[in-house]
Amino acid sequence: MSEQTRKILVTSALPYANGSIHLGHLLEHIQTDIWTRFQRMRGHNCYSVCADDAHGTPVMLKAQQLGITAEQMVAQTRDEHHADLVDFGVEYDNYHVTHSDENKELCELVYNRLNDSGFISKRTISQLFDPEKEMFLPDRFVQGTCPKCGAEDQNGDSCDVCSATYDPTELKNPRSVVSGAEPVLRDSEHYFFDLPQFEGMLQEWLQSDAVQPEIANKLKEWFEEGMQQWDISRDAPYFGFEIPNAPGKFFYVWVDAPVGYMASFKNLCDKNGLNFDEYWGKDSDAELYHFIGKDITYFHCLFWPAMLEGAGFRKPTGVNVHGFVTVNGAKMSKSKGTFIKGRTYLDHLNPEYLRYYFASKLSDAVTDIDLNFEDFAQKVNSDLVGKVVNIASRCASFITKRFDGKLSSNVLEPELVAEFHQAEASIATAFEKRQYHKAIREIMALADKANQFIDANAPWVTIKDESKQQFTHDVCSLGINLFRILVVYLKPVVPTLANQSEAFLNDTLSWKSSQHVLTAHNINKFKALMQRVDMDKVNAMIDDSKENLEPTVTLDPNSPLAKNPIADTISFEDFAKIDLRIARIAKAEHVEKADKLLRLELDLGGETRQVFAGIKSAYQPEDLEGKLTVMVANLAPRKMRFGMSEGMVLAAGPGGEDLWILNPEEGAQPGMKVK
Ligand code: 2FM
Ligand code: ZN
Repeated sequence: MSEQTRKILVTSALPYANGSIHLGHLLEHIQTDIWTRFQRMRGHNCYSVCADDAHGTPVMLKAQQLGITAEQMVAQTRDEHHADLVDFGVEYDNYHVTHSDENKELCELVYNRLNDSGFISKRTISQLFDPEKEMFLPDRFVQGTCPKCGAEDQNGDSCDVCSATYDPTELKNPRSVVSGAEPVLRDSEHYFFDLPQFEGMLQEWLQSDAVQPEIANKLKEWFEEGMQQWDISRDAPYFGFEIPNAPGKFFYVWVDAPVGYMASFKNLCDKNGLNFDEYWGKDSDAELYHFIGKDITYFHCLFWPAMLEGAGFRKPTGVNVHGFVTVNGAKMSKSKGTFIKGRTYLDHLNPEYLRYYFASKLSDAVTDIDLNFEDFAQKVNSDLVGKVVNIASRCASFITKRFDGKLSSNVLEPELVAEFHQAEASIATAFEKRQYHKAIREIMALADKANQFIDANAPWVTIKDESKQQFTHDVCSLGINLFRILVVYLKPVVPTLANQSEAFLNDTLSWKSSQHVLTAHNINKFKALMQRVDMDKVNAMIDDSKENLEPTVTLDPNSPLAKNPIADTISFEDFAKIDLRIARIAKAEHVEKADKLLRLELDLGGETRQVFAGIKSAYQPEDLEGKLTVMVANLAPRKMRFGMSEGMVLAAGPGGEDLWILNPEEGAQPGMKVK
């Protein structure tokens, strides 16, 4: 604790402004927030900033779809994201947005410096272009048939079926996801950042403990593959910042997003009178940490340090990479209801459950974290409610009712107290190194000891014995003090529980408070600090998340689906009952006095059926004879005015002249089953 006050700046990855915060984001924001709160409790100058990542094609297209401007959408989403994070107890000193004046200025500054130093070059490249929408298409906006395995509807850069990766120009039958048009190749001049110039610097930076060992290994592979020039421009139309002296060319979103870390901090500096250069200047003695997910390592460990170096800024002290969140052992899934939005979670459950659960599983490794809801409920109920809160609830009422709300002047069991004090060092180290699971394990081992102490001394028994009043007072007071130290250690993880405990304890808890014991100190009445996790609420949350499945694409009102929405889902069993067969239309004729019907004789290859079909508006009987079609062969016969109808012919279309009987492929034989 004799450590000097450190200057620290911390960031989390900036969420894209075109979707909601979900549990995957929350792992990172909670990880960052715990670390930041811990540093602040220790008395360091630790600032944390974040922002919404506003630019790029997906944001632009989503705003168009919603019929609002990108600026409007980004402003709304930023506010929604910020509110979600605050409600999870995630508190940034500043939550900004990359579509801001500070970011524009800083992007231009970084770019101009890189350009002046000769790190920017121009080259013409050929890319897929949507001729209808008149825009270049990012890879994910092109779909087509996989060039390797022939699977249809694959993405522009990789195939979900055979895992092949390829260039979107290699796709067969490519089409634009935006308009459906077939893309064409078009030339355009692009701006490139000379990443290979920074290879030596990056190799050295990676030796500085800036990244976890598994990340350093991954980066080695990338070095072996060879650094490439990085394409940093995108052509209009693009929602972003225009590149200086390059009309119609915009910074690629991954250029201005990390600069957004600086911009959010700059905005904070301007509001609070902080010195920007102390944190970002080349000679800064501050520490800078980025918390990110493993999927964006490349951007943060190669491009970003190189951009900073090239533009004369300091580099990150550390890039802290975490794994993905899985739910109940599998990738988050919308259909299973495990793709859970932050707000949906908050509608049902206490955010501190999640903070605690993630903390109990987080380490400094890049491994994925599984949120298993059975385990979640069990852990929160047994640890936080059953062990920690229980200590206070067992002791508090005696202090309030029998001892005037005042803790004893005596301290029982100095060895136990010393153990609680001494644990500070290793718990602090665990938090510092982001080994939160280790900190939690140690804190819970202490909680077990506190409970054993109370069990062994049974104040609920001794309270009845007049001669043991002082002893009972001492036991309950020590219980409250042990609870207090546990809350100090848990405060970065469960700040609301800690704040409520502070009100109850009539005390403010800093990290140093762990080294003190309260004697002859008045406490307040105890109120329940946390409810147990109710599995019904967990299940309700999952059910609500299944509702998130509504189509996000607004249907064209003239489309067949909008005019004739898809009927309620049927089970596979229901479907399997329908026996579809190929039938040959042996005979077709008009039915007297019937406006719509034709009488068909259908040859099922061994059996002939009579069917009255409402297709007169579209077909002349003579056009039908001899054709093969598909019929529902096991439909119960229906008595009609003109005779029995023994099945149904399948036809498509809205009706009238636009009706087509389903023509089976050549080679089908009457009676064949249709699958
Ligand atoms: O992957 C993402 O969600 C990006 N929006 C993260 C950007 S982090 C940074 F570089 F700004
Ligand atoms: Zn494939």
